[in-house]
Amino acid sequence: MSTESTRDAIVITAAPTYYSRLARRLHWTTFALVVIAYASINTRKLFERGSDERILAVESHFLVGMVILMLTLPRLVHRMKAPLPPIVPPPSAWSALLSKTTHVLLYAFLIVQPLTGIVARLAEGKGIGLPFTERVIPSFFGPHEALAAFLESAHVWIGEAFYWVIGLHILAALFHLLAGRDNVMQRMTGRS
Ligand code: HEM
Ligand code: HEM
Repeated sequence: MSTESTRDAIVITAAPTYYSRLARRLHWTTFALVVIAYASINTRKLFERGSDERILAVESHFLVGMVILMLTLPRLVHRMKAPLPPIVPPPSAWSALLSKTTHVLLYAFLIVQPLTGIVARLAEGKGIGLPFTERVIPSFFGPHEALAAFLESAHVWIGEAFYWVIGLHILAALFHLLAGRDNVMQRMTGRS
């Protein structure tokens, strides 16, 4: 809430203090799902090839990744419509540029990473099995071995690279919280 004094009247303009409840819920739900996506695909290595446990880990990875994609598309629509809470006090130009670039990269990741995984799997001709059921989303094209190999290595490469980008994002958020000089973290937690 900001107050501007004019000669004749006091004009009150409302600016939100926090990201909207929906934006915050989508952010933290996506965070949890990204952790599960990484954890499930990494823990598959603990189990033997072809074992029920390994299939469950891989299929959970597919499902969670697809849910991330389904949440990100409406999230972006909401992002374009909902007013953004200002950072108080405002960040320096370089800090604003760095955070904007990181956020654009994170949104791109949340779309491109599931898509490369989905199309790689379909191009392999294997379909996408769903956990706890016998159901499989069938491959409706292919097999295209070269396309599948390219997308799978892109998927693995992007997955590795984003450990660093996500790590940078979390460190920046924690730095803002611990330094206590602005409201960056509070805007996303909804707590003052
Ligand atoms: C944001 C969501 C996702 C993230 C963060 C992610 C991350 C990763 C990572 C890091 C790996 C490499 C693991 C390793 O080899 O050490 C991987 C592998 C893989 N992912 Fe994803 N992924 C996501 C979504 C998806 C989706 C939606 C699908 C398909 C429906 C998919 C299919 C695959 C496949 C087929 C592999 C190779 C598995 C194997 O070699 O057995 N991923 N993913
Ligand atoms: C402990 C984990 C995390 C913390 C503490 C955290 C914290 C934050 C904070 C404080 C903001 C607001 C920053 C600002 O507006 O200047 C934010 C925004 C954002 N975060 Fe995270 N985050 C975490 C994990 C993640 C993960 C895993 C992802 C996705 C891979 C992610 C994606 C985003 C995106 C895309 C935005 C931009 C929101 C927008 O302006 O529309 N975050 N995060």
